[in-house]
Amino acid sequence: MGKITVSAPGKLMLLGEHAVVYHHPCLVITVDQRIQTTVEVIDRNEFQLEARDVGISGYKKPISKLGKGHIPKGAKFVEIAVANSIGHPELVSGFRNKFGMTKEMGIRIKTESEFPSQYGFGSSSAVTVCVIKALSELFNLKLSKKEIFNLAYKTVLDIQGKGSGFDIAAAVYGGTLYFLTGGKTIEFLNVSSIPLIVGYSGVKSDTAVLVNKVKKSFSNKKNRLDEIYNSIEVLVNKAKAALIKKDWEMLGDLMNQNQNYLKELGVSTPKLDNMIKAALDSGAHGAKLSGAGGGDCMVAVVSDEKRGKVIGAIQSAGGEIIDIKTGAEGVRIE
Ligand code: PMV
Repeated sequence: MGKITVSAPGKLMLLGEHAVVYHHPCLVITVDQRIQTTVEVIDRNEFQLEARDVGISGYKKPISKLGKGHIPKGAKFVEIAVANSIGHPELVSGFRNKFGMTKEMGIRIKTESEFPSQYGFGSSSAVTVCVIKALSELFNLKLSKKEIFNLAYKTVLDIQGKGSGFDIAAAVYGGTLYFLTGGKTIEFLNVSSIPLIVGYSGVKSDTAVLVNKVKKSFSNKKNRLDEIYNSIEVLVNKAKAALIKKDWEMLGDLMNQNQNYLKELGVSTPKLDNMIKAALDSGAHGAKLSGAGGGDCMVAVVSDEKRGKVIGAIQSAGGEIIDIKTGAEGVRIE
């Protein structure tokens, strides 16, 4: 019976959040903290899951019940990813060829994360990508990166109903990406690393709640919402050029402008605002929230000389510094 371990990186949104849900581009970067997933084929007709980081231990159910009935929150992405993969025509025949239709077989999965799921680093997407990559390898299907993206995106939409898929693209492709909703464009940018500081606000945010909040509060200001999203798109395109030129001052300025629009959307918080102001007052080129808002992290782009000062200022504003390097490799076999 086969066994494989794969890992995928966490991510941070650099510019373009919210707009990317509505057919505008964004810029996303990966971080060097990863999720590891071990997938093993077992000779019991069961799906078994150990995911202690999200409170799942000793979870099991018959393969025939996969994706059905009550699924605890921490098990959802892994279980639906397996259900969708086994439902994938090629995977079904992979199982059939390898084990025969009558043979007892099942799958045991163990996940371990180098970062807490509260950070908003995209642990659900990363683990979904890991499961699909691992099954593709175990059954020798050689799914392409785009096929893994598509299957993982379907899994996330099945569970959340909404989402641009930028976090899945980050987990699959790694590096720094220019991404358009649903993966219509996934462009790998040649940027090795960005001088970022990441501050966690201490509050876990709920992406779906924030996306709905924006929709609701602009329901009778549709024109203004379109203007904001179009303006964010202009910033994203300029930031793409700044990134390629490694023009960190320009990137910082564009991040500041993006943050003003995020404030107008109503997704920043006083805590995030304070952390961002502290970073700017102590010399950061630019700073903004990263992701849905309402909590999670802020990011600041900073010169080497100002790094220590900016870190201290964010901490004084109550932020927790997360030590990361950007531009980590996408999903890989360990
Ligand atoms: O909160 P996060 O890190 O999952 O980022 C959400 C970004 C949104 O644009 C608001 C949603 C999405 O799916 O792109």
